[in-house]
Amino acid sequence: MQIARLLQTQGFGSRKDCRLLVSAGLVTANGVVIDNPTAEVDPAGLVFTVEGEEWAYHEKAYLMLYKPEGFECSRVPKHHPSVFNLLPPQLGERGVQTIGRLDQDTTGLILLSDDGQFIHVWSSGKKQTPKRYRVTLKHGHTPELLTALRDGVELVDEPGELVAAVSVEAIDTHTIWMTITQGKYHQVKRMVAAAGNRVEVLHRDRIGGLDLPAVLEPGDWAWLTEAHMTALADFPNFN
Ligand code: URA
Repeated sequence: MQIARLLQTQGFGSRKDCRLLVSAGLVTANGVVIDNPTAEVDPAGLVFTVEGEEWAYHEKAYLMLYKPEGFECSRVPKHHPSVFNLLPPQLGERGVQTIGRLDQDTTGLILLSDDGQFIHVWSSGKKQTPKRYRVTLKHGHTPELLTALRDGVELVDEPGELVAAVSVEAIDTHTIWMTITQGKYHQVKRMVAAAGNRVEVLHRDRIGGLDLPAVLEPGDWAWLTEAHMTALADFPNFN
């Protein structure tokens, strides 16, 4: 692939922007300066630098982000900064989208990609992907609350349908693990409210079989490795 074209696929701007970067001598490929925009490079395993910053070639972007509190998952946020501000602009430029959304005050694991098929598969309810939340409650939990969440509750505005968690476990008096497979709007908060309590703090620590890595701090992002992808797809069938 021509180096300028390759940079374009990786989010470094228009073909013209990329040609200029190369001609200015600001790009290296596998350690060698390349100043001819039409020079051919093999993308497989390529490590390149642009203005001294190192990148690895990724045909498609598969990412995870530790979403901090106070960020919206929208590209055009209304009241808070966007999670896209936490990523290098090149990733936004190449069209990365979040897979599902977390509320602005929810923290934890969120996936992003620019692969339409991947986004579709992992955001569609069909896969029944379990998502685990650590839920801090306003009032101490009771056996009735845990039973109601497991058996299903009727959400306000969605009468006639029982929405159940696939797993609910107490951590301490005011904190529970709750795993859901659907992705309804404000689902955890609405389920807890329907069961007579209130969510004070919400944190997602697992999607499928993929745990939020302990090395990530709030606001950090990382490429998903093969091992992460395998873990993601490795989850129990709750049915
Ligand atoms: N359920 C909610 O209520 N909020 C989230 O951010 C995610 C799940």
